[in-house]
Amino acid sequence: MADVEAIVAVHTASRERAYRGHLPGALLDQYSLGDRLAFWRRRLVGDDPHAVTWVVTVDGYLAGLCHAGSPQPGPATDALHIHALYVSPNQQGRGLGRQLLGATTATVAAAGFAEATLHVYDFNVPAQRFYERLGWERVATVTLAEWEGRAITGYRYELGLVAVPPVAGRP
Ligand SMILES: CC(C)(COP(=O)(O)OP(=O)(O)OC[C@H]1O[C@@H](n2cnc3c(N)ncnc32)[C@H](O)[C@@H]1OP(=O)(O)O)[C@@H](O)C(=O)NCCC(=O)NCCS
Repeated sequence: MADVEAIVAVHTASRERAYRGHLPGALLDQYSLGDRLAFWRRRLVGDDPHAVTWVVTVDGYLAGLCHAGSPQPGPATDALHIHALYVSPNQQGRGLGRQLLGATTATVAAAGFAEATLHVYDFNVPAQRFYERLGWERVATVTLAEWEGRAITGYRYELGLVAVPPVAGRP
């Protein structure tokens, strides 16, 4: 299993850079390091049969992660949801996000899902441009959280997937 401390470190640093100043500080600071480690351990070895996590390393150090799994909450659908995609601030813009998302959606497609979905905050325009560049389509405005009576909104994106059948005669 990938080093959960390294996953939490990259997730935290990337989230800080992207969200601090846009989301309420108390929302960003509500979980301790111990909470975040426990959260990621549950994600990595939890009971979601469809969970998939890809990480990418640079010079032996974890530089990015992508986690997909069943949509939560909600009924089972033929779509898998990208719950997290984060690249270290000092490694962004070098193709790692494309690599991580491509590996994850290929795994999701190979598992038989026809669609992948994700949510992105409305202020996170760089990530929206990234997803649109990779062919994702914005389909709806959604409420992603409630904080002190205020709705925090974003967008739902979707990507249609096609599973490529194995080449005859090869495993
Ligand atoms: C969003 C994120 C995952 C993208 O990963 P990345 O490694 O920086 O992006 P890549 O280098 O793989 O870019 C892939 C393509 O998207 C394009 N792209 C990336 N960011 C872009 C932007 N802000 N505007 C326009 N195009 C962009 C790149 O130019 C590249 O296209 P090309 O290969 O045709 O040149 C990364 O920047 C990140 O971790 N951001 C902070 C956390 C975050 O917002 N996560 C998403 C939460 S929903």
